[in-house]
Amino acid sequence: MNIIQKADYKIGGHLATKQDARIDKRICGQSLTEYVPSIYRDDSKGVGSTGSHSTHYLMLERIFSNVTITSSDALIDIGCGKGRVLAFFLKEKCPAKLYGIEHNKEVGRLAQEWTKKYDQVQIMIGDAFTLDYNPYTILTMARPFLPKTLLAFIEHLESTLTHPVTLISWCDQQGIPVLNGRPGWSKQEGGAILRVKGFKLFPWPQAYSVWAYDPDKRK
Ligand SMILES: C[S@@+](CC[C@H](N)C(=O)[O-])C[C@H]1O[C@@H](n2cnc3c(N)ncnc32)[C@H](O)[C@@H]1O
Repeated sequence: MNIIQKADYKIGGHLATKQDARIDKRICGQSLTEYVPSIYRDDSKGVGSTGSHSTHYLMLERIFSNVTITSSDALIDIGCGKGRVLAFFLKEKCPAKLYGIEHNKEVGRLAQEWTKKYDQVQIMIGDAFTLDYNPYTILTMARPFLPKTLLAFIEHLESTLTHPVTLISWCDQQGIPVLNGRPGWSKQEGGAILRVKGFKLFPWPQAYSVWAYDPDKRK
């Protein structure tokens, strides 16, 4: 990356973060922009978690522009961090029930605190591996897991889910290709995002994909 490309990303990222903080304050009463590093980072031992980085609203707008969510859906953000994805859906007046699960208590409590005033939202503090995903129809993930841990999580879903779900994943070009050609999973949509509305959001393009999972198609 040359100096001009670097400056382009620094400026784009900075302006997008400023805009994020403004929207956070309106929806959550506080900014969710501060990064909190992971305390569980040993992927070889199945606890490969990323730190709590909030996804830009601009990125979420782009990813969800073609995804239909209705009032009969129950959406869960797996590794919800401080709750940015849920704040995005509140901002968009999404009619679904919204859930988040987060194992880092520090950020999970912050998400619980600001969502208290929204009956539509529930945040659970705990390990995403201990949850049964049958009550949910839409699962979202902003790279909560390092690659080995992600594979273990996919196996957890496959061994427990009894009905079809939609999984939307982003910023996970290293891990999510594991779903390609995997029985039961079919890719509905996908792409890579670098720039939205003129803002260069990342140093290099970040992949996103929308998957349909149907347990009956695994056999
Ligand atoms: C990159 S952040 C994304 C935060 C939020 N989803 C967003 O997009 O703004 C990933 C989060 O997943 C959480 N996480 C990772 N492994 C987890 C697990 N096993 N159970 C619950 N949360 C987990 C991390 O603590 C971190 O807060």
